[in-house]
Amino acid sequence: MDFLGFQLRNNLFVAPMAGVTDRPFRQLCKKLGAGLAVSEMVTSNSLLYGSAKTRRRADHQGEVDPVSVQIAGADPAMMAQAAKYNADNGAQIIDINMGCPAKKICNVMAGSALMQNEPLVARILCAVVAAVPDTPVTLKIRTGWNRDHRNAPGIARIAEESGIRAIAIHGRTRADQYMGLAEYDTIAMVKSQVKIPVIANGDIDSPQKARFVLDYTGADGVMIGRAAQGRPWLFREIEHFLNTGDMMAPPQVAEIHRILRDHLADLYAFYGEETGVRIARKHISWYTKGLAGAAHFRHAMNQMPGIDQQLAATDEFFLGHAAANECLQHEHRSDEHVEEMRAA
Ligand SMILES: Cc1cc2nc3c(=O)[nH]c(=O)nc-3n(C[C@H](O)[C@H](O)[C@H](O)COP(=O)(O)O)c2cc1C
Repeated sequence: MDFLGFQLRNNLFVAPMAGVTDRPFRQLCKKLGAGLAVSEMVTSNSLLYGSAKTRRRADHQGEVDPVSVQIAGADPAMMAQAAKYNADNGAQIIDINMGCPAKKICNVMAGSALMQNEPLVARILCAVVAAVPDTPVTLKIRTGWNRDHRNAPGIARIAEESGIRAIAIHGRTRADQYMGLAEYDTIAMVKSQVKIPVIANGDIDSPQKARFVLDYTGADGVMIGRAAQGRPWLFREIEHFLNTGDMMAPPQVAEIHRILRDHLADLYAFYGEETGVRIARKHISWYTKGLAGAAHFRHAMNQMPGIDQQLAATDEFFLGHAAANECLQHEHRSDEHVEEMRAA
């Protein structure tokens, strides 16, 4: 796919997820089939303090091109400054977050709360686009403020007029948080009204669902977040299905073990032992979901303070399952949803 002048291997995007889509996870998803991975957001004011966390988030060494960095904030001048800082530090695409309902963000009128104030949206977008004239700027939004105010089409038009080059839409309103199911009608409406690429997001958790959402919305690509947690190979499964119409066999436990082992090595190298072990716990938990005895294993693993113990416990767990030649069963809660929407 040609995306803003970059050649991507496909139209599958990893959704930005604070605390999840760090460099090791983005690299892994790209290796396993994602076309582009948006990094965790870097708040515009935190850049000024240069904390270790912010510096790590801005570390893109060795990352597969293009590097897309998300910024969040509500002040046009600070957002412009953040965009410039990130572009000067290796970002090849700047993504603006107006999709996140987190209290921490919305209380200061940023993230999805901004969608309530269209004139401010326009000022922010214009300021950011002007600050990085050589770097494409993209926007991530929800469908609106609440179900009575689904103003994504209006925001998308403002975005297009402001020089935004692509837009990703999560099919829920801010008020929905993560409740209910994502809807795709608003995304389809936006797609029919703007010329810039539209990326559809929300509850895509299987190859069939990705096919359905692409067909239903006419979107140029799909963005996947939670379903890729502990399951980064979902991207290659979707890629394969979109290319061939056939489902790829799910990975064997031995392969999952190998993928997880590589992921852990990257996490330890990126964060160091103490933070690496802590961050690794949630990923290990996600990878083991659906395997017998996972809850007990997770509880024990969460008490282990160091790399050696964490690795030994992980090896023991996976080798036991590999010996039994077990296959991971993932629930695709949305497959029923696809059937319902097709029938409607
Ligand atoms: C743990 C977590 C952190 C997230 N952080 C961000 C963020 O920093 N910026 C953003 O735009 N969206 C963020 N999101 C929203 C996701 O990018 C995505 O829009 C949402 O999860 C819906 O997609 P999904 O159903 O594929 O998960 C986050 C979501 C989760 C679950």
